[in-house]
Amino acid sequence: MTWGDFGRRRGDSRRDGAAREGYVTIDTRFVERNHKASRKGTQLMAITRLTRLDLSNLSAWISTAMPWLDKPAASLHNAFDPIFGQHGVPIVKDALYGTWLGHPLHPPITDLPIGFWTSSLVFDVLEMEDAADLTLKLGTVSAMGAAVTGVAQWHDLQEMESPRRVGTLHAILNVSATACYGASWVLRARDARAAGIAFSTIGIALATAGGLLGGDLAYKLGIGVSRVAFDEQEAEWTIIAAIDDIEDGKLHRVEVSGESIVVLKQGQAIHAASATCTHVGGPLDEGEIDGTCVTCPWHGSQFDLRDGRVIHGPATSPIHAYETRVTNGHVQIRARAKK
Ligand code: FES
Repeated sequence: MTWGDFGRRRGDSRRDGAAREGYVTIDTRFVERNHKASRKGTQLMAITRLTRLDLSNLSAWISTAMPWLDKPAASLHNAFDPIFGQHGVPIVKDALYGTWLGHPLHPPITDLPIGFWTSSLVFDVLEMEDAADLTLKLGTVSAMGAAVTGVAQWHDLQEMESPRRVGTLHAILNVSATACYGASWVLRARDARAAGIAFSTIGIALATAGGLLGGDLAYKLGIGVSRVAFDEQEAEWTIIAAIDDIEDGKLHRVEVSGESIVVLKQGQAIHAASATCTHVGGPLDEGEIDGTCVTCPWHGSQFDLRDGRVIHGPATSPIHAYETRVTNGHVQIRARAKK
């Protein structure tokens, strides 16, 4: 993150530079010209610094400036290892990853607490107490679902510094928001309505900050985005190898038009699919074969090479699968017709 360094250079170039870099700016020329109002100027300078927070680099700044997040990250990871680790129950893990949905389950689940809590705020403003309290409770309960699906998406990313740290801060903010709403629930039930509203107001501020980091995780760091989303599949029959070069029962990697393809020959059958794991890009050609399925060597996602579908997460999106044929001693592939 870049903080504006007010007063670094004189003149309008400073203002232009700030605009170029996408800062939110305040015209501070007034401060420079009015030397007599130095005290007031100092206050404005502080406000200017705050409003120049460069949100476009937030995740990079958190990652470099907050190494202390590794400690709570390790605790969180260990706490959920019995569920999401190697010995977790696959059907439970897959349900929480969103493997059945075709994309991560966490983002749509977060709509529930955000929607309920925002509604509660509006009902508080309108002094509709029953509606405000009901939506607050629904938001708080649904936040549990958002939390556990969020950990599911984050648990296997420990070797990636930015997702690990930004995800941890995202979790801390959202758990704090949920705690505030829990306190608000109790206070409202005890007729301490003003204090309850104060807590829920802090809660929504924390949840908003948490949501901002969630956006960074998805749209800046690409967590949850299929790693083959932008790969173009070869639509015409294309030679990828001589059949004699493909050893039976072994995974082979070939490059075709910029996409890495993993090829598996099993007797007469030849399977070909993307060699890039859709989770965070693991090399499937280095994975393990089990029948027609391949298991990613990084975090254990399993794909069926016949059609690319995900058998087990943490991946949630399928890999691209290809039609194959052998012509004149050469293996050819082309994209499967879309159904
Ligand atoms: S990269 Fe994570 S399971 Fe493949």
